Amino acid sequence: MEIQNVLTWANQIVFEKTGKHLSSLQRGILTGVWNYQKYGDIAKNYNCSEPYTKANAAQLWKILSESLGENLKKSNFRSTMERYNNSKVLKFGDIIHIGDRDINNFCISDQISFLSNQQYSDPISTLKPKNTKLKQQIDLRDAPSLTTFFDRTEELVNLKQWILQEGCRVVTILGITGIGKTAITRQLIPIIQTEFDCIVWRSLRTVPPLEVLLKDLIKSINHTEIEGYITCDTQLGMLIEGLRDRHCLIILDDVQYLFKSGQLAGNYQTSYQDYRTLFKLIAEFTHNSCFILNSWEPPLEILTANSDNDNFAVRLFQLQGLEKGAVELLKNQGLEDEKQWSDLIRLYQGNPLWLRLVSRTIKQLFSGKVSEYLQYQPVFLGDELINIIQQQFNRLSDLEKQVITIFCSEPSPMPISVLLSKIPVLPREIFQVILSLERRGWIEKKVNLDQSSFTVQLVLKQYVTDSLSQISG
Ligand SMILES: Nc1ncnc2c1ncn2[C@@H]1O[C@H](COP(=O)(O)OP(=O)(O)OP(=O)(O)O)[C@@H](O)[C@H]1O
Ligand SMILES: [Mg+2]
Repeated sequence: MEIQNVLTWANQIVFEKTGKHLSSLQRGILTGVWNYQKYGDIAKNYNCSEPYTKANAAQLWKILSESLGENLKKSNFRSTMERYNNSKVLKFGDIIHIGDRDINNFCISDQISFLSNQQYSDPISTLKPKNTKLKQQIDLRDAPSLTTFFDRTEELVNLKQWILQEGCRVVTILGITGIGKTAITRQLIPIIQTEFDCIVWRSLRTVPPLEVLLKDLIKSINHTEIEGYITCDTQLGMLIEGLRDRHCLIILDDVQYLFKSGQLAGNYQTSYQDYRTLFKLIAEFTHNSCFILNSWEPPLEILTANSDNDNFAVRLFQLQGLEKGAVELLKNQGLEDEKQWSDLIRLYQGNPLWLRLVSRTIKQLFSGKVSEYLQYQPVFLGDELINIIQQQFNRLSDLEKQVITIFCSEPSPMPISVLLSKIPVLPREIFQVILSLERRGWIEKKVNLDQSSFTVQLVLKQYVTDSLSQISG
């Protein structure tokens, strides 16, 4: 009995179950085990780690066992095959060869380490057709339920276009707290869900270590349960393989929790530095899936990939406040004095959460009369909103706080040159701070003919001014 016949049989089973042919590593596993090799030796031959090889083998034994109806493993593989062959239950020689061209002739876990040395080149064929063999799987247990939602028609059309027509691999939705990142992503899912094999939504609010998140994603996407210790690199390799094999939509909400408070935007907390590799890989490796990342500030790896003009697959989506939708929201809140709503919307930058909170305050203090609320200047932000903005302010670095305070002391936008004359630090430090504050959505740039100036968003400005006057008072 020839191993070649067994490989042809195994290839047919795997293809029927998963829509994919045996990879070169899987062939290597079967051939190696047939020849009584250890997993460690097979791994060396294929330039892979032993745990990665074992995980692949476990998946293979599972598929073949299910098909045979008996438990197949390393120790009984050859004897079982020979038994079947002798009993003529399976006639290995007669199985038709189904064109098993190997399209996975590489080991991703090893390519991850190449990536940092810029030695990586894309595999021959990564854009496989959508896998229609497996049942669609939607895991939204971390997602909020659909709630009342106004407008955002244009934004939803753009996101759909980027993800479905233009094949974006990573879309990062950015915006200050309450602007509606989670809500718009949740609304997008029913619009695009039929196009994906698998949808997984995870919030990083609980700040899972990378290996915990990877295990979880691999379980959902690759249907592989990882037991015991496997390095993050190996897990990343498995994940990328899953993202290539299936057409998945993965939402990582609340990405900002990976970043350090009191530092410039995008600085990872010490134990979460390895998320850099995840973001770099999903942005730079070719795969067949799409990640939506929701965050207050962008991961720097995503910014870098996005700045590469050739990489259209990585996009940033700066979510702005509601316009038409804000009017509907205020109507829904039962406010009065519609003529003044545009002032209220401008003041709160169309932020749906902030508008909802202030609507409640206006109803409680002024029975919903917006004009009465606006006549008291500066307006009262309300405890809940102050608390929310305070959390955002506390995340800023000391220098960012100083710069914000200087910007807030001026009624009109300030150019960088003026700012530099008011603060004794090097220009490059100020440039970093300005970039960081812009990324966090704290400041806006106003471009005049001769120079650019910066100003703090209205409500944030009011928060800073109020807190300063409380301290000095
Ligand atoms: N278009 C909309 N119409 C009505 N309500 C909205 C809309 N967008 C968001 N909201 C509501 O505003 C609130 C804040 O939205 P959401 O939680 O999506 O903000 P976020 O940007 O994800 O905030 P965070 O960064 O703090 O997670 C939620 O209660 C949400 O239901
Ligand atoms: Mg959110």
